[in-house]
Amino acid sequence: MLRFLSSKIIFFWMKSTACAHSNIAIIKYWGNLVDEERIPLNPSISLTISPLTTKTTVRWGSRTYRVKLDGKTVKGDGKDRIVRNLERIRKLANFDGKAEVVSINSFPSGTGLASSASGFAALALASSKALGMKLSRRELSILARYGSGSAARSIYGGWSELTAGETSQESYAFQLAPESHWQIHDIIILVSKKEKTVSSEDGHKLAKTSDFLSSRIKSVRRNLPLLRSAIITRDFDLLGKIAEKDSLSMHSIMLTSDPSLIYLEPETVEIMKRVKEWRPWIKAYFTIDAGPNVHLLTIPHHREKLLRKILKIYDENQLIECVPGRGAWTSKKHLF
Ligand code: PMV
Repeated sequence: MLRFLSSKIIFFWMKSTACAHSNIAIIKYWGNLVDEERIPLNPSISLTISPLTTKTTVRWGSRTYRVKLDGKTVKGDGKDRIVRNLERIRKLANFDGKAEVVSINSFPSGTGLASSASGFAALALASSKALGMKLSRRELSILARYGSGSAARSIYGGWSELTAGETSQESYAFQLAPESHWQIHDIIILVSKKEKTVSSEDGHKLAKTSDFLSSRIKSVRRNLPLLRSAIITRDFDLLGKIAEKDSLSMHSIMLTSDPSLIYLEPETVEIMKRVKEWRPWIKAYFTIDAGPNVHLLTIPHHREKLLRKILKIYDENQLIECVPGRGAWTSKKHLF
């Protein structure tokens, strides 16, 4: 009886909950040097965005791994990806047991809104904390990166950069500026809420088949110092130009991969054109991840004007408005 009770107490303590926001990359990561370890081919810079959030509770000490996302049991490849990460953490902590994971997203997953970024950032923090590990932000970002490259950046609030090293230990994110540094608005237009047919995990593997990859990597290296300085000096036009150029450059790699990847929908292109038409009056720039949805970046002074234009064409329930968010954090309110 006493043994049973003490094991219950231990398992109670081996539970932790963490939350993380998604992020939107201005210079994007596309393609890996080493696919299995998600060592990126190129550095990337993003803004962590609130309110898009994943909340995850991890409890260690079960006989099998069980994973639930948004009320549904996760099986197959999705579960394997999460279990691989948990196994890595378990071995680091020298713990012999499996875990139960329950996770909820505040937004539709698999639609290019970077649910894997917030998801693997929250998982890295919750699962390591539940094992009593006190990891640095850099260590957490490396762990999160194994699950999803972009997750490495969601460990931090505000603006962060993910380095592209030659080894896993050299490929981590760090903060460029906190969320309070610059009030940017990111208005997301949900062109589609459908799950994408090719995951970014599979998409990254195709990047090397594009003839244009080496020129993209050169332009990323050229734009990185410019973007860092645009962020530090709050130069919105420079940031916006780089954002548009880089997302078009990444989509050109996708379009010219073998087989080609077409994430853009006619409506995506329509919005891109409209934003350019509005630009003389409205400071807004687009960026698009691996999906058809469009992020429109703007500054407080132009937000109202931009929203008015968008609402003439799109329904309010197709929009999500985001602002700079904090880095991954722990919560005392567990999901089970
Ligand atoms: O982290 P992943 O494997 O979902 O890849 C992210 C890819 C993009 O969102 C398209 C770009 C980025 O850097 O976030």
